[in-house]
Amino acid sequence: MSNKKILVLAGDGIGPECTGQALRVVDWFASKRALKFDLTEDLVGGAAYDAHGTSLTDETMQKAIDTDAILFGSVGGPKWDGVARDVRPENSLLRIRKKLDLFANLRPATVFPALAEASSLKTELVSGLDIMILRELTGGVYFGEPKEITTQADGSKRAIDSQIYTTQEIERAAHVAFDLARKRDNRVCSVEKSNVMETGVLWREVVTEVHKASYQDVELSHMLADACAMQLVRAPKQFDVIVTDNLFGDMLSDQAAMLTGSIGMLPSASLGAVDDNGRRPALYEPCHGSAPDIAGQGVANPLAQILSFGMLLRYSFGLSAEADLIEAAVAQVLDRGVRTPDIMQPGMKKVSTDGMGDAVLDELSALAA
Ligand code: IPM
Ligand code: MG
Repeated sequence: MSNKKILVLAGDGIGPECTGQALRVVDWFASKRALKFDLTEDLVGGAAYDAHGTSLTDETMQKAIDTDAILFGSVGGPKWDGVARDVRPENSLLRIRKKLDLFANLRPATVFPALAEASSLKTELVSGLDIMILRELTGGVYFGEPKEITTQADGSKRAIDSQIYTTQEIERAAHVAFDLARKRDNRVCSVEKSNVMETGVLWREVVTEVHKASYQDVELSHMLADACAMQLVRAPKQFDVIVTDNLFGDMLSDQAAMLTGSIGMLPSASLGAVDDNGRRPALYEPCHGSAPDIAGQGVANPLAQILSFGMLLRYSFGLSAEADLIEAAVAQVLDRGVRTPDIMQPGMKKVSTDGMGDAVLDELSALAA
């Protein structure tokens, strides 16, 4: 049997530094566990724009279609602020999501015990926190047409983005959320703005129907998105799985990420539908962005990227024991007081991006011994 294929798209800013550490973990599994993958690296985002005048070439898109899984870094930065929308760095990621139909974005917000005190919220509010946000990723206002800025008769401008959802788009997101809940605490909170938005009305209706038809064993509740933002900082542990649309999911997942102490800790998985051959397109990326302000300084936290590789092993290749091992190694490293600057606390040992990679490899070897 041939090796599984992983396409590595490191991107911009801290992307290359962080994927560099994740690739050391990939190497560790190859040499210590004889777990071999066919790795291909390519340019994406601003790096691709600088080289090719577009943030995603057709060749790279083809590789993304052909691979078994994508390990993605991060894209964007002020350098490309003036670049046209269709070729700007962020658009590469949106195009891959859309082309591969990666509609289910899993964004876990879990607090490692050693980091509970690093949260901006009181320790007792976040210790043991374990939320899974299921963000719909290929619909809504990100992709709805019309989407344009036009000039009116008087010369002033008018901008429009369209929030569109169909029954099918909501249904498939709801199914993923309920299935996830069954493997967790069995609770789903569906989040929208049905008090002002038609898409919110349909969202609530469809989620309710899917629940009634197939998931009555799962507890379902509904919450308006603004209230959810408030509840996330008031009493975050009330949530198990949150299912929400593309835009609300973008915002609420950043907020939930910060509860965990640092956005530098959180991985994510973006999954498509399983096709007739049993293949499921998938992209794994940290929730943090390219952080251009700290890029190239060796201070970025690579743990979200390493944990994203763990999610890749779990969700794309069914390697749960290996994924568990990565998570255990990260927890151990944090228990031992090893910290990158973003999660630094008094009395702990401050390390560089590389140093954090070293510590994870040491723990992997210790745990595997
Ligand atoms: C995210 C990011 C992206 C988004 C950007 C980079 C386009 O914020 O993955 O959350 O808005 O979806
Ligand atoms: Mg975001």
